[in-house]
This record gives sequence, structure tokens and C-alpha cells, in this order.
Amino acid sequence: MRILRTIAEVRAAVSDARTPGRTVGLVPTMGAFHEGHLSLMRAARAQNGLVVVSLFVNPTQFAANEDLSTYPRDESRDAALAEAEGVDILFAPEPAEIYPDGFATNIHVAGITEVLDGASRGPHHFDGVATVVTKLFGIVRPDVAYFGQKDAQQVLVVRRVMRDLNLDVRIEACPIVREPDGLAMSSRNVYLDADARAQAAALNRALDAAAATRSAGERDADSILSAAHAVLAEASLEPEYLELRDAETLHPVTRVERDALLLVAARVGAARLIDNHLLPGNDSSKGSS
Ligand code: PAF
Repeated sequence: MRILRTIAEVRAAVSDARTPGRTVGLVPTMGAFHEGHLSLMRAARAQNGLVVVSLFVNPTQFAANEDLSTYPRDESRDAALAEAEGVDILFAPEPAEIYPDGFATNIHVAGITEVLDGASRGPHHFDGVATVVTKLFGIVRPDVAYFGQKDAQQVLVVRRVMRDLNLDVRIEACPIVREPDGLAMSSRNVYLDADARAQAAALNRALDAAAATRSAGERDADSILSAAHAVLAEASLEPEYLELRDAETLHPVTRVERDALLLVAARVGAARLIDNHLLPGNDSSKGSS
């Protein structure tokens, strides 16, 4: 595996390796790898001739009061893990390589970025994500890019950018990888002390309770949501949001008639965590995360 720092090096390496029929898979990451990231790398490895992983803690998607300076960073550990997954290129640029003096472009997706995490974290968040992902796509020119479904809203934002700007990158959303007690894996789980770690497991339990209500035939959003609220209250967790939204448009849902996402965000100890489950519109299929 090669670790490359500059755009010119990555461009040259990808262009040398690209041959007809040999697809390029990109896994964009901010590092601090866990099984969720590794599952994306495995999917990319299984489906492509060349696998590029980007490791860049993107400053523009953090607000001033967020955890940019403390975000977990351990490049040598990450590099060893990526290498063990058969990654070909780890692109780990410095911020000035991505945002040189005079950088002036911002990609803003209206609508779906204004709710949920966009409302909680502010409009800069998805602007930062959309801009850096588009830039990474311009640098690597992948055929396929892999994202975790845990960041369900991010996946929808990236898909919208692809569609609206006619960018020809297939977006693969890979299933959420969970700890044995159901907690969704996240780089931010390292912020949890023992008490918060135990409390955090209630997020998935709450989503499971709501999904069970839906599986029992319930379509009314309030009834489904109240099953989740009850579990969160029992764990003394106050969600930042707990919402049922259309799985494609993120419009609020009052009755589940089409596939819907049940999404939660909460501060648990020192961490802000998010999670979601897909609740099927169809009574015969089962929900999944
Ligand atoms: O999901 C992430 O780790 C980041 O938001 C991403 C997609 C790498 C963009 O910085």
C-alpha cells in the first residue's frame, strides 16, 4: 500500500493503475478506523481493481464549537489496518493540499441539508461534506465510492450532488456495523466513559423498539416514535432529534406508507452520536439498519 500526500501523486498513481475494465473504488474517511470503515474497504476490495482510501479530517464540516481539534487521529494504526484490508493507496493529505490559499468554492445542497444534522450542526456541515467529497471525486475519479449507512443523511446528500451535477460515481451505502450490544460503531465512541458507553446502547434499543412496533403492523409515526422515546427516557437520554422521515426525500412522515428512516441523534456523555434504522413501507418486508 502506498501512502500519498499530494493530489498530483494520487492522480498519477490512479491514472497509471487504471486500465480498461479495472474499476477504481474510493472509500472517503476521516480516519480513526473501526470495523465500519473496514467493512467499506472490504466491499471496495471485493468489487474493484484499485482501492483508494482517503484519510482527511475535513475542517470545513466542523463548527467552531465541535471536536475538530480532539477528533481521534492515529495515522500509523489506520495505515496498518488499511494495508491489512488490501487497500492500494491511502491518500492522507494536509489541509493546505485540499484547501490551498484562495480556495473559494462551496457546494450547498438545498432542502435535505436543512433538517436533522443540518439543523443541529448548522449549514456548514453538509456544505463541508459535499464540497470535500466532490473534490475527492475530482482527484481520484472513482467509479464507485463507499459510505456507511450510519450517516444516512450524508449518503442522501452525496447522492443528490451526484445527480444534480451529473457526476458519474456510483454511491454504495454499506450496512451499519454494530457492537455486540447494538451500538453503531463510530470514531466518536472513544469519547464515551463506562457509564456513557452503557447508556449509548439505548440508542439502538430505542430504534429496535420502534422497528418492532412497525413490524407489528403500526404505520402511525407518533405511535412508532413513542416506542423509541420510551426506551430513551428509561435510559435518561434526551434526543437532539428522533424523527421519522421519508427514506429518499427526508420529508417528515406522519404515516409509514413508503420506506422511512427513523433517525436519532443524542449527546451521550462527551459524545454526540447518531444512528438510524430503515422502516419498510411494505408490511411483508422487514426493516434493517
Ligand atoms: O463520513 C465521513 O467520515 C466524512 O463525512 C467524509 C465523507 C469522509 C467527508 O469528510
